[in-house]
Amino acid sequence: MATMSIANLAKMKASGDKIASITAYDATFARLFAKLGMDFMLVGDSLGNVVQGHGSTIPVTVADVAYHVAAVRRGAANAFVIGDLPFMSYSNPQQAYESSAELMRAGANMVKLEGGEWLVDTIHGLVERGIPVCAHLGLLPQSVNVLGGYKVQGREQSAADATLQHALALQQAGAQLLVLECVPVSLAARITEQLSIPTIGIGAGPDCDGQILVMHDMLGLNSDYLPKFVKNFLADHGSIQAAAAAYISAVKDGSFPGPEHSFSG
Ligand code: KIV
Repeated sequence: MATMSIANLAKMKASGDKIASITAYDATFARLFAKLGMDFMLVGDSLGNVVQGHGSTIPVTVADVAYHVAAVRRGAANAFVIGDLPFMSYSNPQQAYESSAELMRAGANMVKLEGGEWLVDTIHGLVERGIPVCAHLGLLPQSVNVLGGYKVQGREQSAADATLQHALALQQAGAQLLVLECVPVSLAARITEQLSIPTIGIGAGPDCDGQILVMHDMLGLNSDYLPKFVKNFLADHGSIQAAAAAYISAVKDGSFPGPEHSFSG
């Protein structure tokens, strides 16, 4: 049983305690992050980029994510671990149940899926069947071919209003956590204020209830391109341990993300 729980994450939102989270893909890093007090870990389909070397998350399979969930679970027996449902593994409710069961059997405590209102029935069905759900709005990397690139989402008023409506619908369907990726600070603040479930930002400004980064980005290991919302914590701290501890402290005390890591409307 994980030490952290979705109920505790909800309490953190209520008390204003910031939630620090990160992606993890293997046992060694999972053990380290758990020891340092990371509130949860996501086995993201970003593993397609940072572990497998693909140019997007599209090639990642459920078996790939399950393999890494199992590794993270072996490294951090009591951590709260979210498994990411990859591209086209939840295109209908039945498929989502089967894909999610694979991730839960591998050791996940919750699954994450990308998208808005079209997922309402799927989320409802998953929760009814005992599978907690984290939703994901804003920039959806699995939809990069529809979006035409990795761009900030929700800048126009109509898009911002639609994103808020999607968030409310996903919460109503039973989602218990919401990742907001690459949206303006004002939109993330509005959604965070209106939802009772915690919001976790990545490129969504300081007002979310918590933050997440891809671990390789937090360690400055992506030399090709550094997105604006990323901070290399290893640069100012001499070790991986110190960098990860500094990331957690900066999230907790609200100093990360700063204005230089955030997008305006
Ligand atoms: O796959 C991933 O790592 C993610 C995070 C960027 C939130 O979805």
